[in-house]
Amino acid sequence: MGKLIVCDHPLIQHKLTFIRDMRTSTKEFRELVDEVATLMAYEITRNLPLQTITVQTPVAETETQVISGRMLGLVPILRAGLGMVDGVLKLIPGAKVGHVGLFRDPETLQPVEYYTKLPTDVQERELIVIDPMLATGGSAIAAIDVLKKRGCSQIKMMNLIAAPEGVKAVQEAHPDVDIYVAALDSHLNDHGYIIPGLGDAGDRLYGTK
Ligand code: URA
Repeated sequence: MGKLIVCDHPLIQHKLTFIRDMRTSTKEFRELVDEVATLMAYEITRNLPLQTITVQTPVAETETQVISGRMLGLVPILRAGLGMVDGVLKLIPGAKVGHVGLFRDPETLQPVEYYTKLPTDVQERELIVIDPMLATGGSAIAAIDVLKKRGCSQIKMMNLIAAPEGVKAVQEAHPDVDIYVAALDSHLNDHGYIIPGLGDAGDRLYGTK
């Protein structure tokens, strides 16, 4: 079963409070999401493997460490996932970025893939799927399905806020995927919104409501 990791750093929790607050402007909301994404990237990369190399300082030769293993890739789910990409890239500037676009079929309510563009070496990378809200889990599961169909095997999920329903669904569908969140909220309402949540993440990021 994949792990659920709640990133409970005080700075993340403090900023999340203002992200939730409906009085926060679009500009501030976007800036705060960006900052929290950077802080979460710090947590999500905590266990990256290291290897020892030798460097020459101005005064001595020394053994020191660099990140080893697979290179990283970020996969935001369009459109709200885009709001967290730059924040993560601040810490991992060498990561490549793929995109997965999904919409919900109004009749079946199932996510339908309408756009996918991934780095050519995506299956060799460790991937972080990014979406601010993990609600029913439908989009997350579909995005991870897309990546696995392309041969990807090392995948983590990164969300600002998750509902227990979405966490359970992703853990059941993809038990190899760890989920990193800033908060695990109470439940989903009848319209699929996370309660208490923050409202519609895409609308609040882009000022479309
Ligand atoms: N997507 C959102 O943007 N907000 C929710 O609460 C649920 C899904």
